[in-house]
Amino acid sequence: MSKSYRVAILGATGAVGTELLELLENRDFPIADLKLLASERSVGKTLKFKGENILIEPVSDRSFENIDIVLASAGGGTSKTWAGIAVAKGAVVIDNSSAFRMNPEVPLIVPEVNPQAAAHHKGIIANPNCTTILMALAVWPLHKIKPVKRIVAATYQSASGAGAKAMEEVKTQTSAILQGQLPVAQVLPYPLAFNLFPHNSPMTDLGYCEEEMKMVNETRKIFGSQEIRITATCVRVPVLRAHSEAINLEFETPFNPDEAREILSHAPGVKLVEDWQANHFPMPMEASGQDEVLVGRIRQDISHPCGLELWLCGDQIRKGAALNAVQIAELLVEKNLLKLATAYA
Ligand code: A2P
Repeated sequence: MSKSYRVAILGATGAVGTELLELLENRDFPIADLKLLASERSVGKTLKFKGENILIEPVSDRSFENIDIVLASAGGGTSKTWAGIAVAKGAVVIDNSSAFRMNPEVPLIVPEVNPQAAAHHKGIIANPNCTTILMALAVWPLHKIKPVKRIVAATYQSASGAGAKAMEEVKTQTSAILQGQLPVAQVLPYPLAFNLFPHNSPMTDLGYCEEEMKMVNETRKIFGSQEIRITATCVRVPVLRAHSEAINLEFETPFNPDEAREILSHAPGVKLVEDWQANHFPMPMEASGQDEVLVGRIRQDISHPCGLELWLCGDQIRKGAALNAVQIAELLVEKNLLKLATAYA
């Protein structure tokens, strides 16, 4: 008889939390018991799982008793408060926040890239930043063939990266503007509808915002290569869901675009979208709701003999967050890595 597991979703009512719920159901993850946790604000609400209404519970010390896997997506502060407690109670925490990503004791995993890192977990596994996951899926298959020396990325990030409330805010702002009213910004710092602005994460001393530094540091950790030079400019755009990225890669020697295309057409988690005649390439609207990262416009960088340009779009909530987390949970189950937990028949 196959095993099944007791799972808790921390942040179940959020944009990523509700996606986690849908993925666990659609991918038929072996669940013995499911606990849905959120803040006091959600007490009394229910969410549906496999046709059953499950009551949302406020998170407390006792929430993690008899839980094998915690899928956490309730922000860094909440993860810092509860992850240690959950691990002490015997659960493995797959954390979607940035709280533990750069901790050397915590594996940072994209299952298509570095699944082997899961073997070294000590109770917490970090799910990387969304833009980093999407970029890693497209760059890793090429990097494996020919190590990449330098990555220059520019991102076009949707409202979904700032959560469900930010998505609602863009809709409200759009209708306000269309009715001749002034848009109100409460979740994001400025109106995003009919606008764009540099990513709203805190600024670092280097003049890069934290989102940009996540792309630099997390990619190096996931690839296991501190030598790769990476620079990024992250921008919030008025797209509801799915991020886009323009990626410039520099290799030691020229990388033939047709060879790159061939490699990416077989790469796990990647779907090639390239119709040069119709000028049809990845778009956030077509990437929304899809598991794969859409990649296209693969071309020689005319400014550098060893440069390659590509364009990608990926669903930030799905592969950029919830799907990657569920894939990590599947990996733990498949490789029998829930050491701290008691899986039962
Ligand atoms: P709630 O809906 O009760 O506020 P998003 O990223 O879409 O904004 O979602 C954030 C998720 O994290 C929501 O499920 C939210 O619950 C949850 N959350 C936020 N703060 C806390 C907290 N202090 N304790 C538990 N859950 C929290």
